Amino acid sequence: MRSGWLYKFSLIFGHRLRHNWFLLCFFSILVLVALLSSSSSTREFESLVPPRLPNVYTNYRKLKEQSVVDYFDLRFLASLANPRQKELPLCGKERENYVPCYNLSANLEKGLKDGEEFDRHCELSNEEKCLVRPPKEYKIPLRWPAGRDVIWSGNVKITKDQFLSSGSMTKRMMLLEENQIAFHNDDGLIFDGVKDYTRQLAESIGLGSDSDFLQAGVHTVLDIGCGFGSFGAHLVSLRLMPVCIAAYEVTGSQVQLALERGLPAMIGNFISKQLPYPSLSFDMIHCAQCGIDWDGKDGMFIIEVDRLLKPGGYFVLTSPLIKPQGSLLTIKKGNMLTPVEDFTQSICWSLLDQQDETFIWQKTADKDCYAARRHGLPLCQDEHESQSYYNPLVKCISGTHSKRWTPIRNKSNGSRLTLEELEVHGIQHGEFYENKEFWKSALRNYWSLLTPLIFSDHPKRPGDEDPLPPYNMVRNVMDMNAYYGGFNAALVDLKKSAWVLNVVPVGTRNTLPLILDQGFAGVLHDWCEPFPTYPRTYDMIHASGLFSLISSEKCSMMNLFLEMDRILRPEGWVILSDNVGAIEMARTRATQIRWEARVIDPQNGSDQRILVCQKPFLRK
Ligand SMILES: *[C@@H]1O[C@H](CO)[C@@H](O)[C@H](O)[C@H]1NC(C)=O
Ligand SMILES: *[C@@H]1O[C@H](CO)[C@@H](O)[C@H](O)[C@H]1NC(C)=O
Ligand SMILES: *[C@@H]1O[C@H](CO)[C@@H](O)[C@H](O)[C@H]1NC(C)=O
Ligand SMILES: *[C@@H]1O[C@H](CO)[C@@H](O)[C@H](O)[C@H]1NC(C)=O
Repeated sequence: MRSGWLYKFSLIFGHRLRHNWFLLCFFSILVLVALLSSSSSTREFESLVPPRLPNVYTNYRKLKEQSVVDYFDLRFLASLANPRQKELPLCGKERENYVPCYNLSANLEKGLKDGEEFDRHCELSNEEKCLVRPPKEYKIPLRWPAGRDVIWSGNVKITKDQFLSSGSMTKRMMLLEENQIAFHNDDGLIFDGVKDYTRQLAESIGLGSDSDFLQAGVHTVLDIGCGFGSFGAHLVSLRLMPVCIAAYEVTGSQVQLALERGLPAMIGNFISKQLPYPSLSFDMIHCAQCGIDWDGKDGMFIIEVDRLLKPGGYFVLTSPLIKPQGSLLTIKKGNMLTPVEDFTQSICWSLLDQQDETFIWQKTADKDCYAARRHGLPLCQDEHESQSYYNPLVKCISGTHSKRWTPIRNKSNGSRLTLEELEVHGIQHGEFYENKEFWKSALRNYWSLLTPLIFSDHPKRPGDEDPLPPYNMVRNVMDMNAYYGGFNAALVDLKKSAWVLNVVPVGTRNTLPLILDQGFAGVLHDWCEPFPTYPRTYDMIHASGLFSLISSEKCSMMNLFLEMDRILRPEGWVILSDNVGAIEMARTRATQIRWEARVIDPQNGSDQRILVCQKPFLRK
């Protein structure tokens, strides 16, 4: 019997019980509250967190009011001699930039070769139960958008040589200033190669300027090997959605740099497996000296690009290896070297333009094109879309059987799905919009909770005034159980300057195509495995209904929390909503990994609870 007194109070504190001053603190609040408590006694979450800003202080006051009640509750709890869970230790310095599943020496020992040793192999990870700590020089990143152009050099692992040798177009514009790395932005006075480059791309596809990409149907751009993210940063300023995918790199990591700058990115090797997205996902795929051997594997890398492109989408390839005459990028067929142009024609791409080292192809929007081509590739019959990182490359054309085969279209109105598109995904219009509205109101509530003030014993940072929420910075957001992408849509609707990596857990309804078709970033992922990103890359992790979903599965919940902690930046936030049992479990784990944690009861008669946590900045 796990009900009654234990849950009937709205707020239950985490792990600060042992501090006597904590108790003292409550007595002072008690006095304070006695003075202030004349107002309403309602505990409705909705009314607790009204959308209008002036009421936020009322909100905290009420939270504190309730915490007095909690205090008595907790004292009772403590008297039951609840055995405290042990806090987990910090990992050694060697794990500061630890990414599980990419242990090259273990992979080589195992006998993996031909590039597979660089691939993701989670079965060979050795899981030590410890908290990945930040490097000694780590500093909280600057807020968006300042943090897009200037980062702390101590936050990323990069060598001086990597700065100096960075010669490629997307890597060129960086300067080292004391402990900062600066990337020059649009308004910078320094000549900006990226801007010219992007304008040239726009002209190549027949547009007047690079602000017209949306009109040409280009919104989502997969940037394979994104350098230091400058192309992506420029696309973001054009309201496009670039996603960087690049190999795991021990130092000078493109993914780590992009994320540090607040740009969407994830680790993904492009060696022997497909990229982790369903077919027909992107409006444009971009590779500027991305290190892929496009000639290799009988053109299977090019076929993979074709799989990922939406009908009418563009492939941009910039490489000094291609000569303007267009025949050096070759596909081996037997002993013959065939120019890639023949190959791209056989998969129904048309070369739109070539300038200097840049080629632009467009994928056909016409399904029937493939059948009409002699020497064409076969169409794929069964497509595996159910897993993510481990699908082999294929030698057939994907997506032609899909209901999602619709040409890219003018998106200057935004990427909202039309009724027909929702139908393609088998989703009722009403249900979809209800879900959206739900998340909009939930997000308003959540946002006002994102302040250390909700943990009433949180030490204020020196010099901080009592800040209005959100005083913190939230740019990189992960939704661990994204469903329709409603949380992401709410952030967009409420004009938060955040982007979301929408994760669809393996084994749930695969809504990833729906998420991608809304112009969001997303991936299918098995939460029993580590996520392919660097430590300290997300400001907020959100998970609704995830724990009740996977608690039945055979993987360690503690490992999952350690993984969330690894991904999260110091002072980053976690918002979990779930049923009482799952939230109780989560609160215990959160305490073990030293998060500040607080349970909130929406008090609407359901057994749903919300757990708000903040990861501390451990400097040791
Ligand atoms: C990588 O694998 C090697 C050999 O199996 C092992 O000694 C080492 O501890 C592993 N490194 C990490 C960071 O797990
Ligand atoms: C795209 O849509 C916008 C707004 O509806 C319109 O102004 C523009 O001309 C359209 N562009 C193209 C290329 O159709
Ligand atoms: C943009 O929205 C307007 C009004 O909702 C609509 O009339 C127009 O057709 C839309 N344009 C495109 C290109 O979807
Ligand atoms: C109560 O609120 C929770 C979370 O805010 C929501 O999931 C649930 O559907 C609501 N229940 C009722 C009965 O309104």
